Amino acid sequence: MKTLLITGGAGYIGSHTVRLLQEKGYRCVVVDNLSSGHREAVGSADFEQVDLRDIFALDSVFKKYEIDSVVHFAAFSFVGESVENPQKYYENNVGGTMTLLNVMLKNDVKKIVFSSSCAVYGVPENVPIDENCPCHPVSPYGRTKRIIEQMLADYRTAYGLNYIALRYFNAAGASKKYPIGESHSPETHLIPLILQTIQGKREKLVVFGTDYDTSDGTCIRDYIHVDDLASAHAKALKKVEEWSGCLNLGTGEGCSVREIIKACEKETGKKCPIEYGERRAGDPAVLFANADKAKEVLNWEPKRSKIKQIIKSAWQWEENRQF
Ligand code: UFG
Repeated sequence: MKTLLITGGAGYIGSHTVRLLQEKGYRCVVVDNLSSGHREAVGSADFEQVDLRDIFALDSVFKKYEIDSVVHFAAFSFVGESVENPQKYYENNVGGTMTLLNVMLKNDVKKIVFSSSCAVYGVPENVPIDENCPCHPVSPYGRTKRIIEQMLADYRTAYGLNYIALRYFNAAGASKKYPIGESHSPETHLIPLILQTIQGKREKLVVFGTDYDTSDGTCIRDYIHVDDLASAHAKALKKVEEWSGCLNLGTGEGCSVREIIKACEKETGKKCPIEYGERRAGDPAVLFANADKAKEVLNWEPKRSKIKQIIKSAWQWEENRQF
């Protein structure tokens, strides 16, 4: 039976995508080294604990299953950490992807959907950001994602490897159907931090900067539900046979940090203790997507990404989390 290889399928976005692809009838094998992913998140998919840089182990997974296409999530993804320890990011994100692509070519697998990021744009000149905006990533993390996109384009030209790189804006929310959600260690993302503060698991939320040139002085981001990201991957898998390139995945609407805090307080009926702090280095004031190209190419649009839906699902997860 033709099988999809999902690297990083034990992680946040990967695990939600695996569940959806299984619902659509695909057989999935997850490859994950569990350095940050969770075995429990994989569910009933086949699982191989393999590090992408281990070329022999990876090749034997390709031999064991009849791999038809790859969805590639596995990567380190902490922007701050990437500045402090770029070696870890280049070695794992770029090095791991090189090995993966080489094993794909060796086994004549020519389709890949890649997990990219709006971090490839850096500080954009204009918003909304479309795919023609120049890419000037400002962190090693963003640079690893951009380097991989460029590798994919070169491999397509030279070897006919078909790819779609999906540039996510701010992934958020949790599955409604399955017991999976966001679980990073350490957690750095805004919505889980607010909800955990509301639960009393954290003392307070520090708002990073209130003097940005935005309507309420706090940063604006484009939050997109993880299930909407998953559905874009399912559509990209179909499209990748005939189209290659990069696509933004966002809602096209921005939401400020203060607005997110207010929405979390409304949803939970509880106050979030706050401290107003300094700006976090490297945070652009405003990031939101023009996602028209994804709509056109994939016939995709977000269906669960209203802020209320995102926060409701994230809260359900925080209240019942299993890992
Ligand atoms: N924020 C706070 N306090 C916190 C955490 C976050 O005020 O304790 C603010 C940030 O300054 C930012 C917003 O909340 O304005 C969102 O921050 P996140 O850390 O949740 O998300 P980022 O926008 O920094 O990161 C996202 C993705 C990254 C990607 C990056 C590109 O999660 O993978 O966008 O800019 F690299």
